[in-house]
Amino acid sequence: MTSPDLPAELKAALDGKLRGFSRSDAAGRAATISKTYRDGGGSGGIRSETDALAYALARMPATYAAVTASLNALVEISPDFAPSNLLDVGAGPGTATWAAAEAFPSLQRFALLDANDALRALALGLVADSFRLRDVSYERGEARATLTKAGTADLVVASYMIGEIGDGERRALAELMWAKTKDTLLVVEPGTPAGYARVIALREHLIASGAHVAAPCPHDGKCPLAAPDWCHFTQRLQRSRAHKHVKGAELPFEDERFTYVALTRMAVAQRPARVLTQPNVTKAAVVTKLCTADGLEFESVPRRDKAAYNEVRKRRWGGISNRNKTAIS
Ligand SMILES: C[S@@+](CC[C@H](N)C(=O)[O-])C[C@H]1O[C@@H](n2cnc3c(N)ncnc32)[C@H](O)[C@@H]1O
Repeated sequence: MTSPDLPAELKAALDGKLRGFSRSDAAGRAATISKTYRDGGGSGGIRSETDALAYALARMPATYAAVTASLNALVEISPDFAPSNLLDVGAGPGTATWAAAEAFPSLQRFALLDANDALRALALGLVADSFRLRDVSYERGEARATLTKAGTADLVVASYMIGEIGDGERRALAELMWAKTKDTLLVVEPGTPAGYARVIALREHLIASGAHVAAPCPHDGKCPLAAPDWCHFTQRLQRSRAHKHVKGAELPFEDERFTYVALTRMAVAQRPARVLTQPNVTKAAVVTKLCTADGLEFESVPRRDKAAYNEVRKRRWGGISNRNKTAIS
């Protein structure tokens, strides 16, 4: 399992960029950018070097943690997956590229694309001293145009990106990303009902085009959750001093809510049930909300079933249940 916290090399690169910048200025910019996101806006307001750095300080640790958690889930399901190249769509400061590089030592080539000049410049600055990432290619331009020209990749990732695409264009973008996917497409979004709705729509559309779900769902069927419920997960991450400062936060950690789907060309061999919330552990039983191949299940394991009780009480929200495995023939 890869750690959800930023790798030391990236932390050092961010700290290096912060030198020479006013932290209060960065905090002010971060607050404005966060407000834009809360109000439903996108990253269009990120125009200057300070904006890009403020965005990275405030949001990169959390989006990195969410991508890493999603990649960890993918690795757990497909332990033999060893991509050699990555395409990071809407790469911004390069978050998903750093996360994928940590998760997959097999990755050798990294192609990034994004429309935002300031974020692209920051991303290139952050990788400049990295032996592994300094030779990334980073195309600047609108996603559909740059994707059309891009080569295919074993792993394609769009992290916190599809929400910035208009409803009418998202389907075409999904098709284009899938066309560039040799093996796996990972889409990660904020863990809100709106983020979930976007992921579910993309999932449904690409399954109709032949995709299979590797994670989180143990099936390619319709999502069994009904509003107001929605599928999302949470990942805890540590806040650095600069991160706390820029967010005006006291707590040394935060919990990022996210939702995701990993779609593959070939169906994966095993599809264990997915734990959908933190299990409810009482003295009498452990009750787990599970997404199984047969739909939603609330599984209760009584304490008197000692071995099973001790096993299921270790379950974590977002993890898998080996008791409910479906083998694909
Ligand atoms: C919220 S940021 C996420 C950045 C990065 N993937 C991450 O996880 O930290 C969204 C990114 O998508 C990019 N983006 C949005 N719409 C785009 C488009 N039509 N073409 C290319 N990039 C786009 C933005 O410029 C921005 O960098």
